[in-house]
Amino acid sequence: MKRDIQVVQDLEAVARGALTQLRRLLDSSPEGPFRIALSGGSTPRRLYELMAEASLPWERIHLFWGDERCVPPDHKDSNYRMTREAMLDRLKLPDAQVHRWQAELDPDEAARLYDKTLKTEFGADWPQFDLMWLGMGEDGHTASLFPGSPALERTDVAAVANYIEKFENHRLTLTFPAINASRHVALLISGAGKAPVLPEALHSDHYPVSRVHGTSSTLFLLDQAAAAQLG
Ligand code: 6PG
Repeated sequence: MKRDIQVVQDLEAVARGALTQLRRLLDSSPEGPFRIALSGGSTPRRLYELMAEASLPWERIHLFWGDERCVPPDHKDSNYRMTREAMLDRLKLPDAQVHRWQAELDPDEAARLYDKTLKTEFGADWPQFDLMWLGMGEDGHTASLFPGSPALERTDVAAVANYIEKFENHRLTLTFPAINASRHVALLISGAGKAPVLPEALHSDHYPVSRVHGTSSTLFLLDQAAAAQLG
């Protein structure tokens, strides 16, 4: 599985590089819905701010999330809240184009409902996102697929509640089959804290992030700090 590894100067350049790829993918698929799975965490915030200022065919764009914390949508830890503050509040997209996890509910119920949403929105048993944005944690997790967590082995369903020992709580996440069915997967990775994991993450299947790929492209978009230990 071919990976494209691009090293850019800093977080701003990661955000701009991701937006450039989005524009290119939109231009090369000129009609119909374009479904994006958004990453959570802090890295993509700048990208979402740039998107809010960008001239994009928003009438085509449907937003989903690759994972979510088990908190209400207005909670400080909510990935939806981060996205709302950075982008959605400035766009006023129709609700029918914004598909958040109902993370205020019981985790298993939230996962069941999101899996149902995916089936409805994609009109198929399995989603095939046009673009999947993901981040990477310092432990090599991606989405909320953490090392050693039960969801790593789930191949029967697209959306699950995943119990994370170190948090003593669940996270909501797409599974590897759902992620890897995406046409284009882009890992947006920034910061020196990510540097120690990246060499092995890129050259083995040791970490969850090592196991993600798109059916058409897999891009690792790294800033110099994160790429510092790559040969
Ligand atoms: C989340 C994300 C998670 C994130 C990584 C990197 O919900 O936190 O989905 O996978 O992408 O932990 O987070 P940072 O971008 O904050 O370093």
